[in-house]
Amino acid sequence: MNSEQQLTKISEYSHDHMTQDRTGHGFDHIRRVVAMARKLSTTENANQLVTLAAAYLHDVIDDKLVADPQQAVTELSDFLAEIGVSQPQTEQILFIIQNMSFAHTLDGQAVKLPLEGQIVQDADWLDAIGAIGITRAIYFGGHHSEKIYDPRISPRESMTRAEYRNLDNETIINHFYEKLLKIKDKLNTPSARQIAENRQQHMLDFLAEFKAEWNAEK
Ligand code: ADP
Ligand code: NI
Repeated sequence: MNSEQQLTKISEYSHDHMTQDRTGHGFDHIRRVVAMARKLSTTENANQLVTLAAAYLHDVIDDKLVADPQQAVTELSDFLAEIGVSQPQTEQILFIIQNMSFAHTLDGQAVKLPLEGQIVQDADWLDAIGAIGITRAIYFGGHHSEKIYDPRISPRESMTRAEYRNLDNETIINHFYEKLLKIKDKLNTPSARQIAENRQQHMLDFLAEFKAEWNAEK
């Protein structure tokens, strides 16, 4: 199997494992992350197969989406071996997808990712900001019965991983201050930072408009 055929199989595998998700991690998210990773990798000298495979697979072993992550890792390694992805490449892909999530950057748990991982992480984070990011936050917040906004509840200054997952008293608007507005400065590659500028401005404009309307100022 050549690498294009391998990627088709990997895409199908990801699709089979992601289509059920209704928390903003559906296959549409995967498609956007793959497209952005492809775009970012053209300006960097990254291995295409590892980058795109990790982009397709970055959510299939997530502990908040699968009941048994260890089992998911085993199943995934077997699948990659079956389609002829080499052992070292499989290890790189697994290392990236096990260490790239935003939650991993809390608690000082961040590990240095290889270039391919930095690109996929940037692509994943870019999908959490801008117009898409606004939509996903509202979608996620609605799914988890968060309040839209409550000016009496202050955004949490900094969070551990456990606190990030604790949604008591969380509001959709506070999520912007706790996570989304901070993403811009966490990005790895210059090209992603460039793309984030415009997306950041859209979020700031949205928040300003939202608060003005909330307070009947407009
Ligand atoms: P990741 O898998 O990148 O760590 P998450 O599962 O934390 O991402 O988040 C998935 C999407 O839902 C992102 O767009 C994120 O901004 C949004 N989201 C996460 N937590 C909240 C929250 N408490 N309120 C609103 N949106 C959220
Ligand atoms: Ni993702």
